[in-house]
Amino acid sequence: MEKYDVIVIGAGAAGLFCAAQAGQKGLRVLLIDNGKKAGRKILMSGGGRCNFTNLYTEQAAYLSHNPHFCKSALARYTQWDFIDMVNRHGIAWHEKTLGQLFCDDSAQQIVDLLLKECEVGNVTLRLRSEVMSVVRGDSGYTLQLNGAEVQAAKLVIASGGLSMPGLGASPFGYKIAEQFGLKVFPTRAGLVPFTLHKPLLEQLQTLSGVSVPSVMTAEDGTVFKEALLFTHRGLSGPAVLQLSSYWQPGEFVTIDLSPQQDIDAFINEERNQHPNQSLKNTLAKLLPKRLVECLQLLGHVPECTLKQLNSRQQGELATTLHQWRVQPNGTEGYRTAEVTLGGVDTTQLSSKTMEARDVPGLYFIGEVVDVTGWLGGYNFQWAWSSAWACAQAL
Ligand code: FDA
Repeated sequence: MEKYDVIVIGAGAAGLFCAAQAGQKGLRVLLIDNGKKAGRKILMSGGGRCNFTNLYTEQAAYLSHNPHFCKSALARYTQWDFIDMVNRHGIAWHEKTLGQLFCDDSAQQIVDLLLKECEVGNVTLRLRSEVMSVVRGDSGYTLQLNGAEVQAAKLVIASGGLSMPGLGASPFGYKIAEQFGLKVFPTRAGLVPFTLHKPLLEQLQTLSGVSVPSVMTAEDGTVFKEALLFTHRGLSGPAVLQLSSYWQPGEFVTIDLSPQQDIDAFINEERNQHPNQSLKNTLAKLLPKRLVECLQLLGHVPECTLKQLNSRQQGELATTLHQWRVQPNGTEGYRTAEVTLGGVDTTQLSSKTMEARDVPGLYFIGEVVDVTGWLGGYNFQWAWSSAWACAQAL
């Protein structure tokens, strides 16, 4: 039997960071992962450059049944703390947009940072390990692994959510929570593209690859002003990914395809100057040509000149472009989702330490917890902050 002070399950963002911090306090830490490599999602993240935090991190950017839970950890280990760490490791970074910070070179640098911090903390990393069972007794937690039995006074669950099963995602964390009597909120895919019903999808086929600035609104009134991308499966792009976390099956989303320019005012102005210009060519000054052609095929853009366009047609066109209502068929699901909504109920955890209130020595950090951030580095910041808060208490 191998004995440790702390066992951390999951060598992703949260687990690596927590293990490193705990190790650096002088604790003997075992970090276990079922994969061949540590930090697999980090390597894939941000298009290979890892959007590791966001300058504007605040509680409002997180979804949870218990919205205030994340505040304490985010305030105690902030985006600035992680930026300091990135700077100490000499990693060059830049702000892409909306406060999103990316590595200049590669996401591998963030994994290397975490592995170096684990090395400083003498963390024992055991990859390709399956946890067969977890039992709590007088001397803490005993884990049966494939090939070994390990024990520690404290157990940290950092096994993430269900998104991207190809990268090792598993329901392990939820099962452990249930084993110890904790409630788990139903999970669903978040930050994920929408799929469309076949007839609409077929009508929009020619738009695959077209991206436009947009403002998207969910039925609950949540609004995101970001790019919309048409794909061969449906709708994607940052605006869609963001909104998907607020969308429930059956609901509509409303899309403004011309957020920077009022269509009515634009047409009136163009009509004054070029009354004989075709409506199609006029709109092509504002929108991608393929989008205008598609809208024409769908009957939203009459084949006429500006002076022939009557006020009813103009009103309908403005409504279509500013308030296009779409009912997604569903989402692409966990296969492509960046995150998993729902998870371990935070009312049963201490917001200061992440420890289960009724199960001493058992902690949950990162995505397995019912805290989900927006797109843009917020999810990694939650991983760092929750991991740090937990490590202070170990
Ligand atoms: P994470 O999923 O990172 O780690 C969990 C670990 O536990 C994995 O290594 C897994 O193998 C292991 N595990 C699971 N079950 C186990 C078991 N039974 N036994 C042992 N080990 C087990 N966020 C962001 O802020 N900026 C970004 O740029 C991106 N980009 C991005 C791209 C893609 C493609 C995805 C899928 C996700 C993102 N995200 C992101 C989200 C971000 O990756 C995610 O929120 C964090 O990785 C969550 O960190 P965790 O450590 O909680 O889980």
